[in-house]
Amino acid sequence: MIGVFDSGVGGLTVLKALLRELPLESFVYLGDTARLPYGTKSPATVARYALQAAEALTGYDIKCLVVACNTASAVGLPAVSAHIAPVPVIGVIEPGAAAACAASRSGRIAVIATEGTVRGRAYEQAIRRGRPEADVQARAAPLFVALAEEGLAEGPIAEALAHHYLDPLFASSAPAPDTLVLGCTHFPMLVGAIRAAVGPEVCIVDSAETTARRVRETLTAAGLADGGAAGTLRLLATDAPERFARIGARFLERPISPEEVTLIDL
Ligand code: DGL
Repeated sequence: MIGVFDSGVGGLTVLKALLRELPLESFVYLGDTARLPYGTKSPATVARYALQAAEALTGYDIKCLVVACNTASAVGLPAVSAHIAPVPVIGVIEPGAAAACAASRSGRIAVIATEGTVRGRAYEQAIRRGRPEADVQARAAPLFVALAEEGLAEGPIAEALAHHYLDPLFASSAPAPDTLVLGCTHFPMLVGAIRAAVGPEVCIVDSAETTARRVRETLTAAGLADGGAAGTLRLLATDAPERFARIGARFLERPISPEEVTLIDL
């Protein structure tokens, strides 16, 4: 069983990539819907929440934990790893940063994320570890989260908001970045509006895909990959299973019935 944790439904974009990459594995996904959003909370609070979620998932006999939430990955990864060792813990920041380093020709890389992820500069630091000369500009785009959850990821509001957040990075007089990292679980939902705002030349990096590949490599290297029958999926939420099912279905791109979602307390 692979544990996946996020502040809510957004991490289902990462789960979707994991299900594609690892169709024979079983997954347990926990969305901390009672305490969403993490992106506006202090690092200490997010780290504490992440530890509690990781602790809850160890009860499901997990062989690996994926922290699908960018904000929790940015501030909570070392504490979570230490807490549940030797279970490997994989966050979304390192794989996304590595993909951006590989994709960028000019070394000018833009990152959009939540307020908390931008404030903690985790992408910036991870990108500079791969490419010390990189020029990294990060910008918070908090309203994208609400827009994706409202089902307004396409259309005039999404397009206007994409220009609002991205024009200062891409349409100013300074040389534009050639790579954009979507540093938040919800942002892949808005990729159409984001693409329209930045133009066809910019490479858009989605951490979900690169994280799923990293998970497969980690499991294979540790001899933990499952080659058995098709896996199972358990969905857990800390509040409002009906809302999780309704909104989560759009993120997972498959129907979710409220009965599939188990309510838990952390
Ligand atoms: N899951 C969060 C992230 O990727 C976005 C939603 C939130 O703020 O909790 O940073």
